[in-house]
Amino acid sequence: MLHNALVLMLALQLLSASPASSCTEQDKRSLIKFLAGLSQDGGLAASWLPDVDCCRAWEGVACDRNGTVVTEVSLPARGLHGRISPSSLANLGSLTLLNLSHNALSGDLPPELISSTSLLVLDVSYNSLDGVLPPTTVLKQPLQVLNISSNKFAAEFPPWNTMANLIALNASNNSFTGQMPAASLCRASPSLALLDLSYNLFTGEVSPALADCTMLKVLKAGRNNLSGILPFELFDMTSLEHLSFPNNGLEGELDGSHMAKLSNLVTLDLGGNCFHGKIPESIGQLKKLEELTLGNNNMSGNLPSSLGNCTSLTTIDLKINSFSGDLGNVDFSALHNLKTLDLLHNNFSGELDLSCNYLTGRIPEALNKLNFLSELNISNNDLEGPIPTGDQMSTFSSFSFDGNPRLCGSVLGNTCDSVKAVHIITAEDQQCGRKIIFAIAFGVFFGIGVLYDQLVLFRYFG
Ligand SMILES: *[C@@H]1O[C@H](CO)[C@@H](O)[C@H](O)[C@H]1NC(C)=O
Ligand SMILES: *[C@@H]1O[C@H](CO)[C@@H](O)[C@H](O)[C@H]1NC(C)=O
Ligand SMILES: *[C@@H]1O[C@H](CO)[C@@H](O)[C@H](O)[C@H]1NC(C)=O
Ligand SMILES: *[C@@H]1O[C@H](CO)[C@@H](O)[C@H](O)[C@H]1NC(C)=O
Ligand SMILES: *[C@@H]1O[C@H](CO)[C@@H](O)[C@H](O)[C@H]1NC(C)=O
Ligand SMILES: *[C@@H]1O[C@H](CO)[C@@H](O)[C@H](O)[C@H]1NC(C)=O
Ligand SMILES: *[C@@H]1O[C@H](CO)[C@@H](O)[C@H](O)[C@H]1NC(C)=O
Ligand SMILES: *[C@@H]1O[C@H](CO)[C@@H](O)[C@H](O)[C@H]1NC(C)=O
Ligand SMILES: *[C@@H]1O[C@H](CO)[C@@H](O)[C@H](O)[C@H]1NC(C)=O
Ligand SMILES: *[C@@H]1O[C@H](CO)[C@@H](O)[C@H](O)[C@H]1NC(C)=O
Repeated sequence: MLHNALVLMLALQLLSASPASSCTEQDKRSLIKFLAGLSQDGGLAASWLPDVDCCRAWEGVACDRNGTVVTEVSLPARGLHGRISPSSLANLGSLTLLNLSHNALSGDLPPELISSTSLLVLDVSYNSLDGVLPPTTVLKQPLQVLNISSNKFAAEFPPWNTMANLIALNASNNSFTGQMPAASLCRASPSLALLDLSYNLFTGEVSPALADCTMLKVLKAGRNNLSGILPFELFDMTSLEHLSFPNNGLEGELDGSHMAKLSNLVTLDLGGNCFHGKIPESIGQLKKLEELTLGNNNMSGNLPSSLGNCTSLTTIDLKINSFSGDLGNVDFSALHNLKTLDLLHNNFSGELDLSCNYLTGRIPEALNKLNFLSELNISNNDLEGPIPTGDQMSTFSSFSFDGNPRLCGSVLGNTCDSVKAVHIITAEDQQCGRKIIFAIAFGVFFGIGVLYDQLVLFRYFG
């Protein structure tokens, strides 16, 4: 008897401790209005039932800890079509995150969302939203992350000057025209770390006002119609890690003292422009540089030997320029992380020394196509598989391939069936250890007149 009474009391206490918390009627109405505005809801209506607590069981909806106000709506790739109704989601007064990416939403982005006083993260990327981006109407916005990329927004970028907390803005892959938004944006958003404006129709010069974005790490504006030089102010943005302006109409020379300042640079992509002049010697100071893309420009001169000091490099793309001189100037063998070296259509001469590498994997077919190779020594590597036949490879003697027990082919006098049993020999076992492992001697002319589409030397890792 006493026991039963205790249980009853406990149950009553539990009931009173958790008040009938459920999402507010207003939030529920706002969500229902958004749902009703869609032309296809991807089956969302089956989950967003009006008689069910929207904080408990509605797909993609999250609420605060009390379970009363909606704080997040996350419906990426949910098959949503149609428009975002005005005064629907924007009426969720405590909404901090809205993710509608990878749907098929069309029409405009409701101005109240851009000017929301609660949103921190707004991701509507990969939709078909169009029209003009609205100006902002509030004073200090909390918005930190805005991804409007891969939509159909057009016209000029609005002069947003109230985004005081913006950290990341991805507006790439739209149809924005006019000047890059830099002046108002950078003045208003001192914390901006990521700005991606690539794949648009921006014209004019690269704004020196970008330098006001002192925290910027990622700056991308490739595939626009930008012209003029890179303003020197850009090189004062020492926090920059990724500087990417490929496929524009930019020109000028890369200045050595400017370049050296960007010591945190990981990616430098200026391919497909009209830059001329040399690669400055000071590039050797960019110790973190992993990707150097200067292909399709009008650059010339010798490669600076200091390039061999950029030991983080994985990709060097210098194709279709007028670089010249002896490739032996650069100690490529020091670039232990190099995977792609593309030197097509230049005017190099001399010997390319890739010794001290640990080449593994199969012989790239591309090597076989280099019919101007006079000498090849890829002995003492860990190459495997058949030696390509028919082209250049078959003109070398077996000595060129020595010390690769897993290689096979008629030039070695074995068949590709018999080598499968050979065990893998580690690099340390090999005859010449870390020395002269891969060297290719080129003819005097290199590049000019080469008929092949691509010269890419790959370095394979297991
Ligand atoms: C939760 O509800 C209590 C009482 O209604 C209120 O004091 C508190 O501020 C609420 N917390 C949040 C995070 O809304
Ligand atoms: C939105 O959701 C997609 C898919 O899950 C995700 O890749 C993306 O990072 C999300 N956006 C944000 C800002 O978190
Ligand atoms: C949109 O951009 C933000 C910020 O860069 C990022 O966090 C988010 O993952 C992106 N969304 C998608 C779908 O990639
Ligand atoms: C911006 O968004 C596009 C897709 O719309 C994506 O490919 C790109 O990587 C994003 N930029 C950054 C810097 O994350
Ligand atoms: C641009 O957006 C379209 C449509 O969403 C998409 O198919 C394409 O992959 C995007 N391109 C880039 C470079 O992000
Ligand atoms: C690029 O800009 C130039 C003027 O600077 C203009 O003549 C040209 O038509 C533009 N090209 C495109 C594709 O918009
Ligand atoms: C490339 O540079 C040379 C001088 O180095 C100049 O004569 C030529 O006009 C330039 N070509 C282009 C397309 O800018
Ligand atoms: C490469 O770096 C070393 C040590 O940091 C330095 O002594 C050398 O001068 C540099 N070489 C070039 C060509 O800059
Ligand atoms: C290429 O180099 C050779 C000699 O190294 C020189 O005679 C020739 O003029 C150069 N061609 C170009 C287009 O720079
Ligand atoms: C290739 O290099 C190795 C090691 O340096 C050497 O022993 C061998 O004779 C060279 N072979 C050819 C064909 O030059």
